[in-house]
Amino acid sequence: MFQRKKDLVGIDIGSSSVKLVQLKEVRGGYQLTNLGMAMLPPEAIVDNAIMDSSAVVSVIRELVESHKIKTKNVATSISGHSVIIRKILLPIMTEEEMEASIQWEAEQYIPFEISEVNLDFQILGPDANDPSQMSVILVAAKKDFVNDYVALFRECGLTPLVMDVDCFAIANVYEANYGVAENEVVALIDLGASSLNVNILKGGMSVFTRDIQMGGNVYNEELQKRLGLSSEDAERIKLGDESGGVPPATVAAIIEDATEALTTDIQRSLDFFSASSADERPRKVFITGGVSKVQAIRTSLSQRLGVDVQLIDPWRQISYNKKDFDPDYLQAMGPLFTVAVGLAMRRVGDK
Ligand SMILES: Nc1ncnc2c1ncn2[C@@H]1O[C@H](COP(=O)(O)OP(=O)(O)OP(=O)(O)O)[C@@H](O)[C@H]1O
Ligand SMILES: [Mg+2]
Repeated sequence: MFQRKKDLVGIDIGSSSVKLVQLKEVRGGYQLTNLGMAMLPPEAIVDNAIMDSSAVVSVIRELVESHKIKTKNVATSISGHSVIIRKILLPIMTEEEMEASIQWEAEQYIPFEISEVNLDFQILGPDANDPSQMSVILVAAKKDFVNDYVALFRECGLTPLVMDVDCFAIANVYEANYGVAENEVVALIDLGASSLNVNILKGGMSVFTRDIQMGGNVYNEELQKRLGLSSEDAERIKLGDESGGVPPATVAAIIEDATEALTTDIQRSLDFFSASSADERPRKVFITGGVSKVQAIRTSLSQRLGVDVQLIDPWRQISYNKKDFDPDYLQAMGPLFTVAVGLAMRRVGDK
C-alpha cells in the first residue's frame, strides 16, 4: 500500500515558552504550514523538570487548539541533566550485536542505574587511530523524566511519537540548512532562558556535548538585583523597553557583565573539548536560542574564541507563504524556533 508518512507537529517545551512548528515536505525541502508560541508561567519548568504539569498542559492545549492542529502525533525533545550523551569507543560490532550488548556496555559510562534509563545509540564508524574500535554515540535518558513528558502529552490528548534531544534537533536544522562538510568541526550553541548547551559536530556527528544550567535568566536576575526591579520589569527592560526611565547605558553595562558570565562558561566548555579531544577546535560557531539575539554575546564570543560567530537561520531552506507568515516576525523569532523546526523535520522511525 502507499503508506503516507505520518504527519507530525514539532513541539518544544522550553523553560520560558512552548514553541510549535509544522512543516510539509515539498519537492527539494520543506514548507512551513504552522507556527505558534505561548509563554509558560515562571517555575512551571525548572531544571527541565515539569513542576506544574497542569499549567503546561493548558498552555499546550490552547496552542494546539488555536492553531487548529489536526494531527495528534508529536515530535518533542528533552534535555538537561537527566539526559546523558557520551561518545565512547567499543570493539567493532554490528548494529544487532550492539543492540544486544548496549545495556552492559553502557553501564560504566552512565551515572545512573541502567535499569532506570532508556538507552539509544548511534554507531559513528571505525576510530581513526585504532581501526579495531568504533566510535559510538550513547544517549541515556532517565525513564522517570521521559515518562513525565510522555504523560504530559497524553494529558493534552496528543501522542508523542518521536522523543528527541534538543541539541540533536538543532543539529538537524543546521544540517538541513547549511549542509555538512566531511570532517568539518563546528560548534552549535543553544542559548535558552535557563540553560545553555554546547554541541560540537564533526562531519555532522556529535562528538561533544555539554549542558550548563545558566541562560537568559541571568540577565533578569542581575537587572532585578541591581535595579530593584520585579521580574516582569526586568524582562521588559532587557528586551529594550526604555519607558521605565532606567538609563540605557546602565542597562547595557549590566547586560555586558551578565554576558561575560555566560561567555566564560562557553569558552571553558570549548577549552575542555580542546584539551580532552584529538579533534581540532571548531572554526565555526553557530548560536541559536532567544539569548542569541543579544548582540553583546555574539561580539564577546567571537572575540574570546577568535572565530566567526553566526546565528543559525532555521528558515534558510524552508519556503513559506508570505500571506500566512510575516517574514519580519519569522526572522526576528527564528532563534527561538530552531529546536521546534528540527523536531518538525523528524519522521517516525528516524534515528
Ligand atoms: N531580543 C532579545 N534580547 C535578549 N533576550 C531575549 C530576546 N528575545 C528573547 N530573549 C530571551 O531568550 C530567552 C528565551 O529563549 P528560548 O525560547 O530559546 O528559551 P527556552 O527554550 O524557553 O529556555 P530553555 O531552552 O533554557 O529551557 C528568554 O530568556 C528571553 O528573555
Ligand atoms: Mg530551549
